[in-house]
Amino acid sequence: MIFHSDTSIVTIDRFIIEQEALFPEATGELSGILYDLAVAAKMISSKVRRAGLIDILGAAGSDNVQGEHQQKLDVIANAIITKAMDHGGRLCAMASEEEEGIIEIPPQFKCGKYVLLFDPLDGSSNIDVNVPVGTIFSVLRRVTPGEGQGRVEDMLQPGMKQVAAGYVIYGSSTMMVYTTGHGAHGFTLDPSIGEFLLSHPHIQTPTVGKYLSVNDSYERHWSEPVRALMRRYRGLDDRREAMNVRYVGSLVADFHRNLLGGGIFVYPANSKSPEGKLRLLYECNPLAFICEQAGGAATNGKGRLMDVVPSALHQRSPLFIGSKCDVDTATLMLKDDR
Ligand code: AHG
Ligand code: MN
Ligand code: MN
Repeated sequence: MIFHSDTSIVTIDRFIIEQEALFPEATGELSGILYDLAVAAKMISSKVRRAGLIDILGAAGSDNVQGEHQQKLDVIANAIITKAMDHGGRLCAMASEEEEGIIEIPPQFKCGKYVLLFDPLDGSSNIDVNVPVGTIFSVLRRVTPGEGQGRVEDMLQPGMKQVAAGYVIYGSSTMMVYTTGHGAHGFTLDPSIGEFLLSHPHIQTPTVGKYLSVNDSYERHWSEPVRALMRRYRGLDDRREAMNVRYVGSLVADFHRNLLGGGIFVYPANSKSPEGKLRLLYECNPLAFICEQAGGAATNGKGRLMDVVPSALHQRSPLFIGSKCDVDTATLMLKDDR
């Protein structure tokens, strides 16, 4: 007798098709965007895996719009996503953390009804030391009339309008996690066959977390309510069990650990960065969508993050994201902050 395992092998492509079949009105365009992103993720993964072997380490010598020095792989990942996504006929514009304005669809290609926003390589300063990095993406439906190029207004929508979002983590394995609003699902790349296989269906994050991810070297620049909140998370006010501190310095890696194990990632505003550091459209909103789909929550300290109406492409936001109870504690303790 032959025994078969009770778990099925499901590729990301098949999963996307099966999800699409649940919606008779779906045109397949969003599915196409997700396929193309999975291909781009495999290409970036292969570059990241070779980063220590070939001469692509070090800064490319240019600064991005935030005045940060770009690593070479930032530029490479940015180009891979742009080239994988610009000709599918499903997007009418893109925006990247690495480019100041919107990325237009070349005139020879058809424009579609979606826009894509992305952080091509998150945590890029960690590449030189072989620490996990990631890619984050967000898909919105265009809101401006017409069928030509998309505009900035199509990008400046609150996170709750996202139709899909996800991230790829280039860690000990490469994983892609995405949502279209029907649960958050994770796929692990099997490098021997070049396929993402469903490994984490319907991710649910614990309601109370055990990990705290924060860069507390900014403590002296925090407001008193933020300091009190951090004392709470560390159990110093005896109101909760102390959390374990884990900070990789790649948002994707810290977020992913906390999503699976339970925890909160915190990047508050501080007197040196009054809006915090992370970008609302490329980093905070897509992860907030995933987190809520997994039963977690995300706030900017004042209210639900995905309700914020953006006013600029590269807008920054404070971020408190992860296990629901721990995010609720932040909301409660920061309500009178400034
Ligand atoms: P990026 O590499 O895309 O610029 O993002 C870096 C971000 C994020 O990944 C990380 O959580 C954060 O910067 C770390 O900032 P600090 O060094 O200020 O803690
Ligand atoms: Mn980033
Ligand atoms: Mn980046």
